[in-house]
Amino acid sequence: MTAARGRLSRRVSGIGAMELAGLMRLAHDVGAIDIALGIPPGDPPAAAIEAATAALTSAQNQYAPPEGLLSLRQLIAAELLRTRGVAVDPVDEITVTCGATEGVLAAVLAVTDPGDEVILPEPFYENYPGVIGLTGAVHRPVPLAGRDWRLDLDAVRAAITGRTRAVLLNTPHNPTGRAFDQAEVSGLLELCVEHDLVLITDEVYERYVYDGRTHVSPLGMPGTADHVIAVGSLSKSLHMSGWRVGYCVASPELTAGIRRVHERTTVGAARPLQQGVSAVGAADFIDDRALFQERRDHLVAYLETLGFDVRMPEGGWFVLAGSSGLAARSDKLVAELVETAGVLLAPGTSFFADRADGLNWVRTTFVRDRERTVEALERMRRFLTVTEQSN
Ligand SMILES: Cc1ncc(COP(=O)(O)O)c(C=O)c1O
Repeated sequence: MTAARGRLSRRVSGIGAMELAGLMRLAHDVGAIDIALGIPPGDPPAAAIEAATAALTSAQNQYAPPEGLLSLRQLIAAELLRTRGVAVDPVDEITVTCGATEGVLAAVLAVTDPGDEVILPEPFYENYPGVIGLTGAVHRPVPLAGRDWRLDLDAVRAAITGRTRAVLLNTPHNPTGRAFDQAEVSGLLELCVEHDLVLITDEVYERYVYDGRTHVSPLGMPGTADHVIAVGSLSKSLHMSGWRVGYCVASPELTAGIRRVHERTTVGAARPLQQGVSAVGAADFIDDRALFQERRDHLVAYLETLGFDVRMPEGGWFVLAGSSGLAARSDKLVAELVETAGVLLAPGTSFFADRADGLNWVRTTFVRDRERTVEALERMRRFLTVTEQSN
């Protein structure tokens, strides 16, 4: 839905309202159980809370260097080395941002001019079209292929035009749960190098890959540093989505561009919170993979008994479930579930450029509290049984 222009810029009026936001208000009013949003199910590490609290009442509460506290950039670099064996220079290859959300915006702004194109595998995280639209660039959706949602490199190649400047890939992927494999990621990066594009990866779920998989990132792939901006976040891995601390990792040249944007938009993430994050050690990163894998298995099995068509997520926090066996339109199903059953799911329509392509899908998360999730699923079962009987 596009708002009337009025006094607003074309850029802003071209960005539709987020469908999920309206449903969230309704869900709040009726007291629905939310299994739509990926909100971390616990608190940030105590060490971070203590250090952030101390910083608030110390001399540590004025501006930080815009690129982020060096201690925090060093922590991010140390984690990249420890978990992936990738060496990056915290001085001129890491920029601390206000969450991955600002990181993606800064990355796209740094490498595109108005009218340039950004290739976006579809379905996509619902925020991306708006973020790309704000920059004045244009997103070019390229559908993930088949029931397994594979990255179709031929389709990506076919979508490249003289205006293409970047590809924005989220892996592990919200909403499909794909953790793109080595062939897909390195093949995509090769295409980017061949066509002189930048591969921007949103890796906020990097630690959440299941069944023994390892996360594949283009970061550190030899000879490609000028073509990669990797965006990360502490929102998920330290359970601090409200702290708004994320980061961009890129070559010094790309980093200089990202910092120019960042200095003129936010000037930096909140210093006391950066101070808090800097106090954590490797052991504080919350490894809830086993817990989430178990919750994933439970949710998938349950959704299948309700009649959803589900592909097992390989990573991330979400399940994209096929709803065509249950309802003609998933947006209507989701609205009825909120109002009548008191359960909030995300409608598939949020994740496709053409809403019609999302009408057979709903997204749920498996990271929320187990008991509440079971209660939500039971409510759905009762609702679907009544609906079936009345048809
Ligand atoms: C794919 C993806 N990117 C970015 C974000 C937001 O990250 P941050 O809190 O670091 O801005 C989310 C949150 O749900 C997400 O799913």
